[in-house]
Amino acid sequence: MSIPEYIASQLRKPNGFIGRVLISRILNKANAKMNNVTLSSLELKDSDRVLEVGFGGGALLTEMARLKSKAVFYGADFSQDMVALCQKRMHGLISEGRLKLDCASVENLPYETETFTKICSVNTIYFWEDCNEAIKELKRVLKKNGILVLTFGDKVSMSEQTVTNHGFNLYTSLEVQQVMEEEGFTNIQIKQGQDSSGSFYSLTGAK
Ligand SMILES: C[S@@+](CC[C@H](N)C(=O)[O-])C[C@H]1O[C@@H](n2cnc3c(N)ncnc32)[C@H](O)[C@@H]1O
Repeated sequence: MSIPEYIASQLRKPNGFIGRVLISRILNKANAKMNNVTLSSLELKDSDRVLEVGFGGGALLTEMARLKSKAVFYGADFSQDMVALCQKRMHGLISEGRLKLDCASVENLPYETETFTKICSVNTIYFWEDCNEAIKELKRVLKKNGILVLTFGDKVSMSEQTVTNHGFNLYTSLEVQQVMEEEGFTNIQIKQGQDSSGSFYSLTGAK
């Protein structure tokens, strides 16, 4: 496996020593701006029940729980190693009953229909096998009038990085907007940002 292929596989599903020690920390630092934009779009309230899909190193879940001490948070990630790592990092929140982490894929979430008031996912859409099916499943577990926030690097910026030649599905903001609309999301708001990797988008849609 080439180095770009290996990095791409770690970004898709961080695992082992490299995933736990290196990738999880790099992600938390490198994606701070995307997490901040996502946070502002979520407009969290104490009454919220929030799901993050693909939480990686857990920086966004940690920050959300710090800001809203009465809200309840859930995380789903299909990397068993990221789940185990974040269970350790955030054991305080878990034992207080404010956070629950599950090893699960976006296409098949272990939650009842209409569980969450807000759902977010940052930098994971590229790895979803079927974007429509994933967004359909997110809509299923979202309450009526709830919001979905999807934040991701722009197709053009990301295609300039070699790693994205290996198993990434890249999207423009319009392509993601179209899928969200096809799956029944309305009132889609688009924010654009910039970080060291280039341009990114954060789309918010209502159920
Ligand atoms: C590039 S990392 C992003 C982590 C974090 N959101 C961030 O921006 O720093 C992608 C994360 O999404 C998870 N992931 C990828 N595809 C997934 C899927 N289909 N279902 C659930 N989690 C997924 C990976 O295991 C990994 O932790």
